[in-house]
Amino acid sequence: MFSNCSQPLSIRLKEGTRAAHHAAENTPFMRELFSARLPLDAYRVFLVQLYHIYTALETNAVIMQSDATLHFFYLPALFRHSALEEDLRFYYGDENWRDIAPLSATETYVQRIRVLSQEWPIGLVAHHYTRYLGDLSGGQAMKRIVAKMFHLASEQGLAFYNFPQIQNYTAFKNDYRARLDAMPIDDATAEIVVAEAKYAFELNQKVFTDMMDYITSV
Ligand code: HEM
Repeated sequence: MFSNCSQPLSIRLKEGTRAAHHAAENTPFMRELFSARLPLDAYRVFLVQLYHIYTALETNAVIMQSDATLHFFYLPALFRHSALEEDLRFYYGDENWRDIAPLSATETYVQRIRVLSQEWPIGLVAHHYTRYLGDLSGGQAMKRIVAKMFHLASEQGLAFYNFPQIQNYTAFKNDYRARLDAMPIDDATAEIVVAEAKYAFELNQKVFTDMMDYITSV
């Protein structure tokens, strides 16, 4: 299968979201996290947000499985739903985290994933890229910070960052980029996919803003 794009989609996505990535990296919430200053309660509430987001992504991924263009992105090795459940069990113990309502920005994010899966499934690729390639990249640095921040002596509480079915993260990311580049889409569609990825970064940033509001309200 060959793309009809004049520039590979992987490059377009990386370049098109560079500013959005920089902005997300520099949000107060990410700064708190990367400075290892996040309270434990804030971190576990953040995991609840991720749980809702990945549940939406992975429930709707079923649509990808049977789609001629999208089935290359149906990659269960990336799924985070069970890993997040494992971490939430670890951090909440007997407390019922399932009753914690998602923050408003999380609801907006989840709603966008639902709308795309109904109306424009190709747009799901932008969300897939934004979250999973991020998890395989900066997410790995985040793992070290979280382990240090909460004095974790083992892998318990870090399942979200571990992809046991992926041996070599760099090779996997390169393969993922090749899948992006092989998508049979034209320039105009590629532009809309990049715009959706920028929006995905924005949605993440909104979740970080809501998280900071949560932290300052408790
Ligand atoms: C302080 C927070 C962050 C740090 C330190 C960070 C760090 C990095 C680094 C070093 C890379 C490049 C890895 C490589 O080229 O192999 C990367 C890539 C990436 N990050 Fe982040 N990141 C952060 C936040 C985020 C956030 C919030 C998102 C989105 C939710 C995100 C999404 C991505 C994506 C999609 C890529 C892949 C870019 C590409 O190669 O096309 N990152 N990140």
